[in-house]
Amino acid sequence: MSLVLDGLIFAVGWTHVLLAPYTKVEESFNLHGVHDALMYGVGPANLHKYDHVIFPGAVPRTFIGSVALAWIATPVIRLAAWAGYLNTKFDLQIIVRLVLATLNALALSLIRRGATRRFGRPTGLFFALLTCSQFHYPFWMGRTIPNMYATIPVNLATYLLINRAPNAVKTPHRSLVSVVFLLVLAAVVLRAEVAALLAPLCIQMLYRRQISFGELLKVGLISSIASVSLTVLVDSYFWNAFPLWPEFSAIYFNVLEGKSAEWGVSPPSTYFISYLPKLLLGSLPLSIIGIFIDNRLRTLLLPALAFVALMSMLGHKEWRFIVYVVPACNIAAARVTSVMVSRRKGTLVGRLLFLAVPAIIAANMLVTVLSTKASMDNYPGGEALSVFHQIYPANTTYPPPHVHISNLAAQSGASLFLQLNAPPQYYLQHPILKTDDVHNSWIYNKTENLSASSLSSRTSPFTHLISEFSPDADSSLEKKWRTVKVIKGFDRWVLDKDLLKPAKVLSEKWDVDLVKRFAGLLRVEESDKLWILERKA
Ligand SMILES: *[C@@H]1O[C@H](CO)[C@@H](O)[C@H](O)[C@H]1NC(C)=O
Repeated sequence: MSLVLDGLIFAVGWTHVLLAPYTKVEESFNLHGVHDALMYGVGPANLHKYDHVIFPGAVPRTFIGSVALAWIATPVIRLAAWAGYLNTKFDLQIIVRLVLATLNALALSLIRRGATRRFGRPTGLFFALLTCSQFHYPFWMGRTIPNMYATIPVNLATYLLINRAPNAVKTPHRSLVSVVFLLVLAAVVLRAEVAALLAPLCIQMLYRRQISFGELLKVGLISSIASVSLTVLVDSYFWNAFPLWPEFSAIYFNVLEGKSAEWGVSPPSTYFISYLPKLLLGSLPLSIIGIFIDNRLRTLLLPALAFVALMSMLGHKEWRFIVYVVPACNIAAARVTSVMVSRRKGTLVGRLLFLAVPAIIAANMLVTVLSTKASMDNYPGGEALSVFHQIYPANTTYPPPHVHISNLAAQSGASLFLQLNAPPQYYLQHPILKTDDVHNSWIYNKTENLSASSLSSRTSPFTHLISEFSPDADSSLEKKWRTVKVIKGFDRWVLDKDLLKPAKVLSEKWDVDLVKRFAGLLRVEESDKLWILERKA
């Protein structure tokens, strides 16, 4: 049973990767970090070829997560190559994302085991079902945003905090030391906001006399020195600037200088009334009940709540800044669920509570299916490049295309891993990926801020464009370029309200057509996003 539930967590993470294999702009720094570490290695000779040298972004970010992921993925890549499953660079992207999803699933299944030990088997069962039926966390498990690197140490810490006998009051001392170390590492190296989770947790440890102040200070200092040294050494090297501590610069830039506000400011309540409901779906009301029925859950959730409250004080808010509290909330929700199902033989209320459980999980799944469907349709850049490669086969298209990739395309899936017919083709010095004659190598050009007229001018080098502007709307494009293919993308779900009116339903004959229309009651509305253009002869 235990293996089945763990298997479910892994399978859900992998399924999301396979259903939506392309990536978005938030993922691209780390994804390209992994790409460059795999393709060029981390030696000094090739560092100048790294993507961040050409497109450095607003603030430097750490390479530690990406290099670690590249190294962990390497044996898997070798295995896939040996088994004959590695044919293009895009396969590498999928493998890397599957490996990240696996690491996150591993941490979640440890939490599930801890929850089983502390709260009983039903809680472990419902933890798996609630987690897998949600959308955000499983969808992002295999996405290379720094937050989904940081969730790995944070979840290990959550596991260590709950993994003990049901009545044990104290967390084992060794676990506490590891918890502090893991959270310091996550905060210093990967995501600074984890410090806002560590602080209330430390106060709680001291208040509950689980650790002495002197001891905590010692562990904290040693962990900090080790983590800061690691990130300064590694990231100064990659960014060629000494001393560099990326997460500290991020705090300096975003919090102290207040620059994060430039990304948009949301009201203080946003996390509680908008993002937590989105992240947790049906688990939210259940976990709130949990705070009142079990003081072990109170101990678990208070630092998480304090964290969200602290994060609410920052102007700029994103769901991913608070994603770390999701597993703890799901433990609480699972515990409440286990109480709900235990009353099924009793009163009417007990039976209703029992029935509410499958209803909540089904509601989660409905939201997840709709969100997944929408997301699959939301990577026009990735789709455009894939279609481009189908239309123009490698080695048979002359002259080899020099294709311009517009900003929207680059941000919605056209990652370096999708530049199939251009170097680098060598991976780990093994020509696993068939290299073509270098003379046939294509150029994928991401130069930003080019106007339609400069793209089209006689002197511009481009043979093809993946344009975010319709040639119908621009005369210089219209004159010089032929539309080969239009790529659509998701806009919104629309409900055919007309079909729901009782008069309408009753008046119509029930035939195949009406049933068909019912099937289309809820449909995806799309619009044109990108145009694949070829220069007119
Ligand atoms: C990409 O396009 C820009 C603008 O036309 C051009 O200056 C640059 O040389 C191109 N890059 C490559 C590798 O050809």
